[in-house]
Amino acid sequence: MPVRPIICMPDPRLRLVSKPVAKVDDSVRALMDDMLETMYDAPGVGLAAIQVAEATRVVVIDTAKKDDPPAPMFFVNPEITWASTEKNVHEEGCLSIPDYYEEVERPAKVRVKFLDREGAEKEIEADGLLATCIQHEIDHLNGVLFIDHLSRLKRERAIKKFAKAARRATEDRGEGPEKA
Ligand code: NI
Repeated sequence: MPVRPIICMPDPRLRLVSKPVAKVDDSVRALMDDMLETMYDAPGVGLAAIQVAEATRVVVIDTAKKDDPPAPMFFVNPEITWASTEKNVHEEGCLSIPDYYEEVERPAKVRVKFLDREGAEKEIEADGLLATCIQHEIDHLNGVLFIDHLSRLKRERAIKKFAKAARRATEDRGEGPEKA
């Protein structure tokens, strides 16, 4: 179960709409295992397949508290079937947007339909951190990032910050066109 590299902003692949999984087979389960390993290693509480550069509708989540035993959850083709009108504000971060945190408002409770690790159809109701997390991850499957929920000013500031960091990294590797 190898840890895979996580792609970060401004990688354009983060904006792809991921494709539905046709069948939950061993290759999908192998991807889930890699994703879980990658998420625990990061560490994070949720990961969408596109964050390891696979544009497929697979999400792993573990919102267990630090001292509790691991409680991994697997979602294939997850879909929100109901969202509460009641909202909740949560400080969010993203493994693809390192060291950046902002408060995001989302529905406090959602119902989610999905296929589990064995390909069985399931529906759960989520609240608290799990509700925030599952909405954040389903956004990833649609090419949406949590910064898209911020005010335009905050979003543009974040995008600029990461574009600058990416440029600096390229120059450090001596790959910048200026140095050709
Ligand atoms: Ni994220």
